Amino acid sequence: MKVTVTTRSGRELINGGLDIDTTATVADLEDAIHQRIKKYHPSRQRLTLPHHPQSKEKPIVLQYKKVLKDYTNGNSDTITIVFKDLGPQVSYRTLFFFEYLGPLLLYPLFYYFPVYQYLGYQTKHVIYPVQTYTLYYWCLHYFKRIMETFFVHRFSHATSPVSNVFRNCAYYWTFACFIAYYVNHPLYMPVSEFQMKIGFGFGLIMQVANLYCHIILRNLRGRNGNGGYQIPRGFLFNFVTCANYTTEIYQWLGFNVATQTVAGYIFLVVAASIMTNWALAKHRRLKKLFDGKEGRPKYPQRWVILPPFL
Ligand SMILES: NC(=O)c1ccc[n+]([C@@H]2O[C@H](COP(=O)([O-])OP(=O)(O)OC[C@H]3O[C@@H](n4cnc5c(N)ncnc54)[C@H](OP(=O)(O)O)[C@@H]3O)[C@@H](O)[C@H]2O)c1
Repeated sequence: MKVTVTTRSGRELINGGLDIDTTATVADLEDAIHQRIKKYHPSRQRLTLPHHPQSKEKPIVLQYKKVLKDYTNGNSDTITIVFKDLGPQVSYRTLFFFEYLGPLLLYPLFYYFPVYQYLGYQTKHVIYPVQTYTLYYWCLHYFKRIMETFFVHRFSHATSPVSNVFRNCAYYWTFACFIAYYVNHPLYMPVSEFQMKIGFGFGLIMQVANLYCHIILRNLRGRNGNGGYQIPRGFLFNFVTCANYTTEIYQWLGFNVATQTVAGYIFLVVAASIMTNWALAKHRRLKKLFDGKEGRPKYPQRWVILPPFL
């Protein structure tokens, strides 16, 4: 089978094309491209069918497990494929690990080390119980996220661009320092013990609920991430599409009730708006996938992320 591989501008990527077996899969084609051009590891290749530039439809992305011939519409001898270089990639686990490792290591620096003396504060540093509990709560949260990354989540996408590591680390690491700076500050004023207990108690319940939501999502897929997107059911998913985000937002709310800093509330608002955008997209995707037509189930009536508002 003759495969012509072009770039998006129409230039031939491999002069003369490739001859591959008629039973070859898209993964085999990716390997063949990699053999010819060493820098294009399969993880950074995006292969699509040719697509009219004026068309409003999105180009069809080739699925790596599918047999290439299935994309030829009956003409099994030749096919043209459009190649896009996605750039250097890292696995999702690596991406998540580094973005969570920063907060886990940076926060304790502000608690254990005399950071504020270096910044010119000479006052005697009294450590309130809430500051110690916040350290435990914070570390537990990010430790849980790292554990979930390795032992719970079943990602459908193998890799992400390296540039996302820098972007996501900048986001998490900066907020970690920003919050740690204010919570551990020598001039920090603690809330009442009652308020602290309510905040941390509620936050911890939400962290456990969040873990349970992640286990429900995990069980929607096979071991190697197979199974695509399913309708999440059970527990809070019977009411909310993105119950994992709902519990995440509420656990940060609990954290802020207990610690009460402007920095913490800014993080809550930013994180909630990011998750709301993602939740709207996930809700739309599930409604589109499960439209109730041609034997497909209909996506049930649910809140998106924050009942009773959205
Ligand atoms: N504080 C913050 O700023 C912030 C922001 C975002 C997330 N988080 C936390 O990090 C956690 C993970 O975030 P995330 O954005 O990766 O969560 P997510 O996209 O909702 O999903 C977590 C895992 O479940 C899978 N999944 C989701 N919906 C599914 C469905 N309908 N069918 C089958 N599998 C499904 C995802 O697969 P895919 O690989 O296909 O996506 C992913 O592997 C969140 O739940 C939240 O606790 C915090």
